[in-house]
Formats: sequence, structure tokens, C-alpha cells
Amino acid sequence: MSDEKQAAIALDHVSKSFGTKQVLRDVSLEIERGEAVCILGRSGTGKSVALKLMISLLKPDSGYIWVGDEDIAQLNAEGLSRVRRRMGFLFQSAALFDSLTLHDNLALPLHRLTDKSRPEIEETIERVLGEVGLAADKGKMPVELSGGMKKRAGLARALVLAPEILLIDEPSSGLDAITAEEIDDLLLRQKSQQKTTMVIVTHDVRGARRVADRFAVLDQGSLIALGKPADLEHHESEIVRKLVAEH
Ligand SMILES: Nc1ncnc2c1ncn2[C@@H]1O[C@H](COP(=O)(O)OP(=O)(O)OP(=O)(O)O)[C@@H](O)[C@H]1O
Ligand SMILES: [Mg+2]
Repeated sequence: MSDEKQAAIALDHVSKSFGTKQVLRDVSLEIERGEAVCILGRSGTGKSVALKLMISLLKPDSGYIWVGDEDIAQLNAEGLSRVRRRMGFLFQSAALFDSLTLHDNLALPLHRLTDKSRPEIEETIERVLGEVGLAADKGKMPVELSGGMKKRAGLARALVLAPEILLIDEPSSGLDAITAEEIDDLLLRQKSQQKTTMVIVTHDVRGARRVADRFAVLDQGSLIALGKPADLEHHESEIVRKLVAEH
């Protein structure tokens, strides 16, 4: 495969069960470089599990997961750190370090994983916090942040290392409509300016329609539709039509 043709992330016939419960069934999905794909689907249908497989927090029972040309389930700890270094991940629950201020939550990965100087690190933190609207809150502890602020803080932490690939679980849940729109604007900027590849799990169809090049619809662990939002409006499955319709 030539370099330009290679997908940023590919799931190749991936299945995953927990005990007797099959969560993903033979899912194949290629995400191109610089593309934004939103994963839609009902609650409990395997969306978060799919994202966690992409960053190897979970391993598939069968099938392959490629990040560029690396089969990430086969990597050793060192190889996995190297690949994860290029990826930003926002968990469904923002997962900040509770004992560190917002500032220090962002500073930690910059100190650990880059050779930026202290002033460069401070400048990066200021810029990213400004982008998510938390410039005035950098001294706060996570417990002092509202749910929506935590979500934005989690996004800031995912962005701080300027990742090539962003995996985001529910960027706008718990946010008011205006803040949600600002987050979508930020993701759009990130995509157009940095050419960041994005996989976004969301229930916010309106936002998803602004940000996504394609939608991937999961239902009961199967990928039942993949395509441009406008094309899926006429899909044969009623579930797909309902999920992609703006409410
Ligand atoms: N670590 C785990 N151990 C056991 N079961 C799990 C684990 N993670 C997820 N599951 C199960 O897998 C299924 C899919 O979960 P997942 O979190 O992917 O759903 P989701 O589509 O993200 O739903 P939501 O929209 O509510 O976030 C659920 O039945 C869940 O209970
Ligand atoms: Mg989820």
C-alpha cells in the first residue's frame, strides 16, 4: 500500500466479547488520514469499546486493529507508548488526575513526553486552555470544575500534545448548546489547520453533522451503515434514519 493510501486507523473484522456477551461483531472500518468519522448508535451498542480498541486499552478477540502500518494488538509496551504518543484520547468521563490542578494535568504529559522547555510548555498550556475556554481556571482542582468544564479540560489534555489522531468519546455530553457548538468549532479548526484524524463518538447529531465527513452507525455491535450524513438519511434501516436525523 502506498503511504497516502494507507488508512490512519483500520478495524479489520474485529470482534469483542466480555464473558458471554458479544459486544462487537465482525466490524471493519477504515478511517482515512485527516478524516473525521462520527460513530453513532444507541446506548450500550459498543461505541466506547470500539474507541478503546483503537488505542489498545482493550484487545480484540479476533480481527486486527491497524494504526498506520502497525498492528497495535501485537505491539510491546514500548511500541504501544510510541503509537499512543501520536494519539489523543478523551474518555467518556474526562479522567483528570484529581490531585493535580488543571494546569498541572496539562503540564504532566508535556514534561513527561516532550522535550519542550518550561516557557514553551507554559505557552502551550495557555493556548490550549484558551481554545477550550478555560484560561481563567488553570489553578483549579478537578473537583472545583463543573461537568462541562471537566469535559473541556479533558479535551484540552487530549490536544496538548498536538496528536495526529484524536479519539473522542462524547465531546458535548453535559454541555449547553452554545458551549457544545464552541467545542465543535474547535474540532473543525483542529481538522482544517492540523489535518488531525478524528474518531468521535457522539449522541449530538447536529454537532456530528457539522464536524464529520462520514458517519459510522453501530447497532448491537455490528456496523450497519457507513457513509456521508446526507446519504444515510435515506438508508433502508429505520434505526439509521432515526439516528442521523436532526431532532
Ligand atoms: N470492561 C468491560 N467489561 C465488561 N463489559 C463491558 C466492558 N466495557 C463495556 N462493556 C459492555 O459492553 C457493552 C458496550 O459498552 P460501550 O461502553 O461500548 O457502550 P456505548 O455504545 O459506548 O454506550 P453509551 O452510548 O451508553 O456510552 C455494554 O453492554 C457494556 O456493559
Ligand atoms: Mg459510551
